[in-house]
Amino acid sequence: MSIGQERLARRMARGAEFLGCDVAILGGAMSWISERNLVSAISNAGGFGVIACGAMSPELLDTEIAETKKRTDKPFGVNLITMHPQLFELIGVCAKHKVSHVVLAGGLPPAGALDAIKASGAKVICFAPALALAKKLIRSGVDALVIEGMEAGGHIGPVSTSVLAQEMLPEIADQLPVFVAGGIGKGQLIAGYLEMGAAGVQLGTRFVCATECIAHPNFKKAFIRASARDAIASVQIDPRLPVIPVRALRNAEMEAFAAKQREVAQMLDDGKVDMGAAQLEIEHYWAGALRRAVIDGDVESGSVMAGQSVGMVKAEEPVADIIATLMTEAAEALETRAH
Ligand SMILES: Cc1cc2nc3c(=O)[nH]c(=O)nc-3n(C[C@H](O)[C@H](O)[C@H](O)COP(=O)(O)O)c2cc1C
Repeated sequence: MSIGQERLARRMARGAEFLGCDVAILGGAMSWISERNLVSAISNAGGFGVIACGAMSPELLDTEIAETKKRTDKPFGVNLITMHPQLFELIGVCAKHKVSHVVLAGGLPPAGALDAIKASGAKVICFAPALALAKKLIRSGVDALVIEGMEAGGHIGPVSTSVLAQEMLPEIADQLPVFVAGGIGKGQLIAGYLEMGAAGVQLGTRFVCATECIAHPNFKKAFIRASARDAIASVQIDPRLPVIPVRALRNAEMEAFAAKQREVAQMLDDGKVDMGAAQLEIEHYWAGALRRAVIDGDVESGSVMAGQSVGMVKAEEPVADIIATLMTEAAEALETRAH
């Protein structure tokens, strides 16, 4: 083992032990994309795959977990969206399968959710978009946190990963494992976040063009062609309707989203829906738009969610190669810095 590899293994030890895998790299859950094939491939390659439950019903999640288990005997997690109307049934499905880690996304978990997950013996990982929220989540008993910056693909917060990492890691990294996400395309940056106290990292965009990923060839081609500046954030059209921005490749759909927001704002004005229902309507819209691009290959009228690291995705390659490249880059960086 080189000095760099040794340092990397040491810096990843805490995160890897927490996840129960060899490499402290989580494959960030991506709706429609992070299913049995990609998830098992990431876990089999030593990383930690996470199933994206998205808008799945409990029955579908049950099947997805069972199928993933057929493909790997390594641990993997399940990502649940807190606003899913059947959240507690989904937690029950994870418990039935003794899923080791549940990742809660989409805002603060509702009362009882953390206890329900922990009662099943699973560890809970939450997203913390700001320091105050991280502290609140730590007090409420989460086992680990993901801090994700606005460079990421999919739904994003307003602050960049580099700023979140500087602000949050020194304050919380000694209390629980913290995984850094958003904009990571190369191992050099992984080394940097580990040196700052991260237990590991989470990558989404970098895994989309994995050979094992079932995304449509058109979706993967769009990724390979795109550069960082093509991955733009959606804009909020109506101040009355707060929508969480989404980062995706610039296309006709990004324009159509403006019209959708106007339509939903009108429904609010007409009293046809309340704010909660309006926001759910927007989320269903995204789920449908992402499906059109990922599954049907319609990369113009569908949503090609991608992070700014998309410019570093150059080819389709097996998950094991992606992870090996990231680990080599990280080890080399730590080796150089050791001198
Ligand atoms: C196409 C796509 C879909 C995503 N869907 C979800 C999701 O369903 N749930 C979630 O928590 N995060 C989702 N994410 C975020 C990823 O889990 C991950 O945190 C993010 O991709 C990390 O940033 P990166 O893309 O810069 O690597 C998605 C990201 C992408 C690119």
